[in-house]
Amino acid sequence: MRPVGTLAELQTEALACTRCALASGRTQVVFGVGDPAASLMFVGEGPGREEDLAGEPFVGRSGKLLDKLLHQEIGLDRSQCYIANVVKCRPPGNRDPLPDEIASCRPYLEAQIEMIAPRVVVTLGNFATRLLLDTSEGIRRLRGRAYPFHGGQLVPTYHPAAGLRGGAEVVAEMRADFVRAKLLLAGDRP
Ligand code: URA
Repeated sequence: MRPVGTLAELQTEALACTRCALASGRTQVVFGVGDPAASLMFVGEGPGREEDLAGEPFVGRSGKLLDKLLHQEIGLDRSQCYIANVVKCRPPGNRDPLPDEIASCRPYLEAQIEMIAPRVVVTLGNFATRLLLDTSEGIRRLRGRAYPFHGGQLVPTYHPAAGLRGGAEVVAEMRADFVRAKLLLAGDRP
């Protein structure tokens, strides 16, 4: 993917994308939402049913938890950061995205990160974390610290759906990860 051009141009290109089979089942391409100059970026897995219908990431139950933690622990709302996913089109039945789908969509995410140039990227769950840290290690082992990433920092945390399933303990760990991101944004050592 070319490194020149604007985020809006990249979005126009993505909205017409047919690089993988997910294109045929989508209602809308869910490119990303928020401030194109954000210091903080979240990367999830892929759109679910509600996101596919709305054309916006994290608008369902997982998104409500993301919004809540963002507000309570970092003091921001979604318009003050940028939110994107590993794959921009909904995998049927909310199945995991396949390796070829992730590979086809990867240039969009990489270009988004390059253009937005956030100081802190928070990866939500295994798919985003493994892709961006280029590892096969799981989120349980990877979370709890920050990693150097594109001149900034990457903070891995659980996917909000895991927070909804896993209860208070998982949410408490997510809160700690969000605080880590906040301290990094403030220039403090977490
Ligand atoms: N889960 C994700 O990973 N992304 C969304 O946009 C919604 C749910």
